[in-house]
Amino acid sequence: MYKIKTLNNIAKEGLELFSDRFEIVDDKDVNGILLRSYKMHDMELPSSLEAVGRAGAGVNNIPIDKCSEKGIVVFNTPGANANAVKELVMAGLLLASRNIVGAIDWAKTLKDKGDEVPKLVEAGKSNFVGPEIKGKTLGVIGLGAIGVLVANAAEALGMKVLGYDPFISVESAWELDHNIKKSDTLDDLFMNSDYISIHVPLMDNTKGMINDENISLMKDGVRLLNFSRAGLCDDSSLEKALESGKIARYITDFPYDKVLNMKNVICIPHLGASTPESEINCAVMAVNEVKDYIENGNITNS
Ligand code: MLT
Repeated sequence: MYKIKTLNNIAKEGLELFSDRFEIVDDKDVNGILLRSYKMHDMELPSSLEAVGRAGAGVNNIPIDKCSEKGIVVFNTPGANANAVKELVMAGLLLASRNIVGAIDWAKTLKDKGDEVPKLVEAGKSNFVGPEIKGKTLGVIGLGAIGVLVANAAEALGMKVLGYDPFISVESAWELDHNIKKSDTLDDLFMNSDYISIHVPLMDNTKGMINDENISLMKDGVRLLNFSRAGLCDDSSLEKALESGKIARYITDFPYDKVLNMKNVICIPHLGASTPESEINCAVMAVNEVKDYIENGNITNS
């Protein structure tokens, strides 16, 4: 029997795909590991381990080098949660513009005001005016599965979209999707965007890419969305820009202590992929990859 351990909740629709040659166990000496965001860096890797399957796109919670040295194959599920993340990013774009969160909090303070509520609403609403996104420019950094979907959806809402990708040429993304306008350089995207949404993995060459230098190129009052990873922004540069208003609003799916209560920051607790549909898609893909490798030695994505 092959032994599989899960380090996070993995949708049963995926786990059910394991044949009766597999069992889900809580042992140490396993053939495969399935996980979402559990940080594996401090974990001792058993010599029996053959494959790790991340039900998600990013693999920064997995010690890739250590796994490679030991011949352990690491799988992820690119694209399987892209629609879920795109939908939350679209909500983020609207939160970055309209004063939805502040207005909802204020509306709650009107509780118990009885018949006065409609009058108070009319008197208070002028405090919550926010701009439309139609006609504004969204810079999308990273044109993978999520970035391309975000670019399309933003365009459908009337935005102009500028795309840039540090790894693939914009031409190849453009071939996939003719609606993406090319930004020749990242500087060009920073200088011309009213909104910027980051969709690159956290790697050595993307870590801290939102830093003093790049922020200085951005328009005053730019609105920044980070649904990718916290480490893409240099914390102190980000905090300075939020305090000065250079970045008017920051919407993030990766909050950390210092930004939690800043008035121009909206924190979402890493919910990008948290839809039943995406949890099932990711689990199915990760299980199939791990199963196929352990049983047949096939590598379908790694
Ligand atoms: C991802 O990397 O795709 C997400 O972080 C997955 C998740 O939320 O579990």
